[in-house]
Amino acid sequence: MKGIKVCVFDAYGTLFDFNSAVARHRAEIGPQADRLAQMWREKQIGYTWWRSVMGKYSPFWQVTSEALSHCLQSCDLPREGALHQKLMQAYLVLDPFPEVASTLDALHAAEMPLAILSNGNPEMLEAVVRNTGLAGYFNALLSVDAVGVFKPDPRVYRLVTDHFSVVPADVCFLSSNGWDAHAAASFGFRTLWVNRASAAPEGLPGKPSGELRTLAELPTLVLP
Ligand code: LAC
Repeated sequence: MKGIKVCVFDAYGTLFDFNSAVARHRAEIGPQADRLAQMWREKQIGYTWWRSVMGKYSPFWQVTSEALSHCLQSCDLPREGALHQKLMQAYLVLDPFPEVASTLDALHAAEMPLAILSNGNPEMLEAVVRNTGLAGYFNALLSVDAVGVFKPDPRVYRLVTDHFSVVPADVCFLSSNGWDAHAAASFGFRTLWVNRASAAPEGLPGKPSGELRTLAELPTLVLP
């Protein structure tokens, strides 16, 4: 992949393991922990899509919290209160995937500009990169909050080309979410789907340029 001028990463699921929030409190949650983790992510993303269609944007922190309340109650756990608060706070200290720091380090050392493009509102993104020690690697934390609509609206992907004054083909975009990878490719980014879960390909517009299992291979693909 030659001529890349900036590498842009999705946050949740791509750099940060959202399942680590539930994992930290597994003992307190009990046998429903895996179900809760899966349902929380599905509801969280579902709520972003439905809100976008309704024209009712709210910050991702609120959306994530409202999705969690629904999922806790669905799992016969208290909808609000201490566990809810602990799980939300855990979202600010999510574990990065094991190869993330070394990958960012290699790209940064080679002076490749790096950014995050995420549904997360700025406060969430700033907190998670600061708390995980990764803040220094990023030239920009771009949030959908600036356009008041969630991924995969094309206005979100345009935040990158506007911020860096580049054309879409200058951008290497990385996402573990198949639908995000397709939408970014449809916008014109050169997109690598970080298919951590070995999921089947999506039947959506846009064609990712390739597929990775983790981010570890990225430096050899984009650095000269
Ligand atoms: C994000 C979600 C889609 O970080 O993972 O934008």
